[in-house]
Amino acid sequence: MSLFLRLSFPGFLLPLALVLSFLFLCHGGTTSTFVRNVQKGITMPLDSDVFSVPSGYNAPQQVHITQGDLVGKAVIISWITEDEPGSNTVRYWSANSKQKKNLAKGEVVTYRFFNYSSGFIHHTTLNNLEYNTKYYYEVGLGNTTRQFWFMTPPEIGPDVPYTFGLIGDLGQSYDSNKTLSHYELNPKNGQTVLFVGDLSYAENFPYDVNLRRDTWGRFVERSVAYQPWIWTVGNHEIDFAPEIGETEPFKPYSNRYYTPYKASQSTSPFWYSIKRASAHIIVLASYSAYGKYTPQNQWFEQEILKVNRTETPWLIVVMHAPWYNSYNYHYMEGETMRVMYEPWFVEYKVDVVFAGHVHAYERTERVSNIAYNVVNGICTPVKDLLAPVYITIGDGGNVGRLATNMTEPQPEYSAFRESSFGHAIFDIKNRTHAHFSWHRNQDGYSIEADYLWFFNRFWHPVDDSTPHVSH
Ligand SMILES: [Fe+2]
Repeated sequence: MSLFLRLSFPGFLLPLALVLSFLFLCHGGTTSTFVRNVQKGITMPLDSDVFSVPSGYNAPQQVHITQGDLVGKAVIISWITEDEPGSNTVRYWSANSKQKKNLAKGEVVTYRFFNYSSGFIHHTTLNNLEYNTKYYYEVGLGNTTRQFWFMTPPEIGPDVPYTFGLIGDLGQSYDSNKTLSHYELNPKNGQTVLFVGDLSYAENFPYDVNLRRDTWGRFVERSVAYQPWIWTVGNHEIDFAPEIGETEPFKPYSNRYYTPYKASQSTSPFWYSIKRASAHIIVLASYSAYGKYTPQNQWFEQEILKVNRTETPWLIVVMHAPWYNSYNYHYMEGETMRVMYEPWFVEYKVDVVFAGHVHAYERTERVSNIAYNVVNGICTPVKDLLAPVYITIGDGGNVGRLATNMTEPQPEYSAFRESSFGHAIFDIKNRTHAHFSWHRNQDGYSIEADYLWFFNRFWHPVDDSTPHVSH
């Protein structure tokens, strides 16, 4: 038979046969061949303009806002004063009402971390705001008063369009600054950032560790003072340092970044949910206990039942450690959570899961891996149209290091992967359609280096996987 094949197989078909067999064996997604700058990243020095301290005695700095309730009618305003507590009061008014100023009084907290005493960290919640309204707000006193503004979201409803930005693992390198600038200049105009964890990477600077939390707060103020960032906790927020007596995890983070966790009946700021426009967003904590019977697990079991797809068709989950990751970094760190929670994600038809942690970009097909148990040994992800798409967007810039080493061959579940810095946009159009795009920092602001039209899993659960489109 082999002799027959050898004799009868025309030589010119051999290369074709080889190509076809290669395609057959390697039917994973696309690994981008985009050639990026692989120079070692550089951290922005302490005297960079993006870190500049606002002028004036005790001037408010590191101003940041986040959603303050379950439904988007409240905003938490936070800022730090360095010299003394100053005023806890926020003065605010809607653009429609001109001069009528409302007052909201909040609280001030401080913390110690080894030999460092924090500044005075203010948190004030503005409640009962009107939907879809521009508000101005002021913090500070006298001639160090600083003024900002934000837009409240539209009222919750199934066909309300809304544009989320996605940034993760941002850090404070020159790449971080590029990522933030590209997000700000993206013509899609993200209205709220879903931040997938790892903020400042301060502990990478042993001599400036505490300064670097403040520099990061000043760096991102230009965005987060004007639109909410929805916070997710990453491993760089743990700050567990028993060698210097710091044994309370998340201490700097939890003092600096508040979340509206009580509004969703959570008992911890690290896991909670919000509704915004047509989306129900569940934030999970990769570094807090999530096993059976734990507070996070009990909360999630209740929370997932509350999702009403008629009110908020888009079900988005945000966490730090990805479940599906084909890079040789942090490989399978999300596995234990996946084993426990993935059946719920499929049963309740989560549309998309955003994670960070791996310093690169990756998008999966709609797959699940829920058939496995210890007895049957079935452990290969399979195509599943009820399952979410998993997107790793840990490519914000960190300390300038990219994850470049990938598992080979690319697994079937991985639709597209590229190790470049960038950000993404999830642009909800109505109850059935949302457009996702990933934007690498080397391109112009509007270039979509990868994209996918999402079809809602509840209202329009047809196959929405597409071939990669490269630019
Ligand atoms: Fe991380």
